[in-house]
Amino acid sequence: MKVLVIGGAGYIGSHVTRLLLDSGHEVTVYDNMSSGCEENIFKESSFVKGDILDFDLLSDTMKKGYDALIHLAALKAAGESMLKPEIYSLNNINGTINILNAASRNSIKKIVFSSSAAIFGEPKYLPMDEQHPAEPINYYGFTKLEIERFLDWYEKLRGIKYVSLRYFNAAGYDSQGRITGLEKNPANLLPVIMEVASGKREKIVVFGDDYETVDGTGVRDYIHVSDLATAHLKAIEYLSGGKSLLVNLGSEKGISVKEMIETARKITGREIKSEVSARRPGDPATVIASSTKANEVLNWKAESSDVTNLVGSTWKVYLKHFG
Ligand code: WQD
Repeated sequence: MKVLVIGGAGYIGSHVTRLLLDSGHEVTVYDNMSSGCEENIFKESSFVKGDILDFDLLSDTMKKGYDALIHLAALKAAGESMLKPEIYSLNNINGTINILNAASRNSIKKIVFSSSAAIFGEPKYLPMDEQHPAEPINYYGFTKLEIERFLDWYEKLRGIKYVSLRYFNAAGYDSQGRITGLEKNPANLLPVIMEVASGKREKIVVFGDDYETVDGTGVRDYIHVSDLATAHLKAIEYLSGGKSLLVNLGSEKGISVKEMIETARKITGREIKSEVSARRPGDPATVIASSTKANEVLNWKAESSDVTNLVGSTWKVYLKHFG
């Protein structure tokens, strides 16, 4: 298939692009490089440097004809979205409307969208399946939920079929070391731990150790980025016959902050200083996905998401950069 990967130079987008190329698809990456990296662009793909706010460029690019779009271009820092809602409205919502309008104009009928567990808000039960109430507690999550609603209307009115993939906590790197771009200014747990291990940061601050969890620290469902990439591949294949779909993607297992730090100490052999602080506002104790639907409909399951693999594959990339 001919696939346009929007946001394809980013962390998840580059893993998706790599897998599509490996599977024989023809890929064009469209990225404004605001958080994408040059080193994440593969020579086998075509590249268009462009913003999703540039409707004319999007539409001109799509004119070349694509069988499917994968849309991963978004701002994704939940905390920042509460302080700067305007840029989240503009980039995430207006940007996606441009993509949908350009797809509509160019008769592109399949889209895979990067949604997020952030659409659900506070967990009301675990594991969280697709029926879980969607009540986002940050503006970022709200933008993703609104986009799912736009997708639904564009399907009804323009026949654009979609798969919306709600990622839980993405982590890890390509096991073959082919993707080496690091996120700029990371705030997520594993990259922060890696920055401490590589001497770029002094310590990891653990946001609370008095939760009702196995060791008092927050538990999350970390899903290996290569498992996420596989889900995208299955989603575009699925769209050739299947109906539009909303699915949760997680490993269905929980890893605590302490377990992640301990594993990183073992794998890196570095001290990794840590300090416990107060809880971070809005952080639930435990978040775990149910991926039964993804398994049933897409025949997808997390296969690389154990803690050793998450930490080990990420450490290799940090070692390359910081030694
Ligand atoms: C994980 C755990 C923290 C940093 C975020 C987004 C969510 C989704 C996934 C995109 C928590 C603890 C973290 C640190 C820590 N993203 N922590 N010290 O908040 O679960 O989810 O990514 O769609 O929308 O909010 O991820 O990596 O920030 O935190 O103790 O310096 O690590 O408290 O328990 P989170 P995270």
